Amino acid sequence: MPVERTLSIIKPDITKKNQIGEIINILEKKGLRIVGMKMIRLTPQLAAAFYQEHNTKPFFKGMIEFMCSSPVVAICLEGENAIQFNRKIMGATNPHEAQDGTIRKIYGASIDANAIHGSDSPPAAAREINFFFKKEEIFS
Ligand code: TYD
Ligand code: MG
Repeated sequence: MPVERTLSIIKPDITKKNQIGEIINILEKKGLRIVGMKMIRLTPQLAAAFYQEHNTKPFFKGMIEFMCSSPVVAICLEGENAIQFNRKIMGATNPHEAQDGTIRKIYGASIDANAIHGSDSPPAAAREINFFFKKEEIFS
């Protein structure tokens, strides 16, 4: 399987609850390698640009407010089939529908406060990694 990079974000609900390390621990234990990481407080403008594909959705405004409510941790992950593998470890968007053992099942509270973001395709991963990281901030 191809070695890929993907972008995850540890969301404000987790940073507020002091659980950053628990999420990172799961990602590393599952075999994904952290090749870039930074803590950042998103502004509404940044969050709206990051989530531009959703800007007509009814949940958009609330999601932007949530994503700006505390700092987040942006992580570039590397591994075999990393994009789909990370999505699998994360679990379904709605924590109530996520499989047992997934990050969203364990740590997510609701469909909006769902603990973690993960790129959903190779083009999205490329765009999202570029959004947060310069070339020299990725370590392979
Ligand atoms: P989406 O891309 O559909 O989910 P995923 O994060 O699994 O790729 O939606 C992006 C985020 O928008 C989602 O993680 C949380 C938020 N959201 C809501 O707040 N309410 C909703 O009904 C949906 C579908 C998403
Ligand atoms: Mg998505």
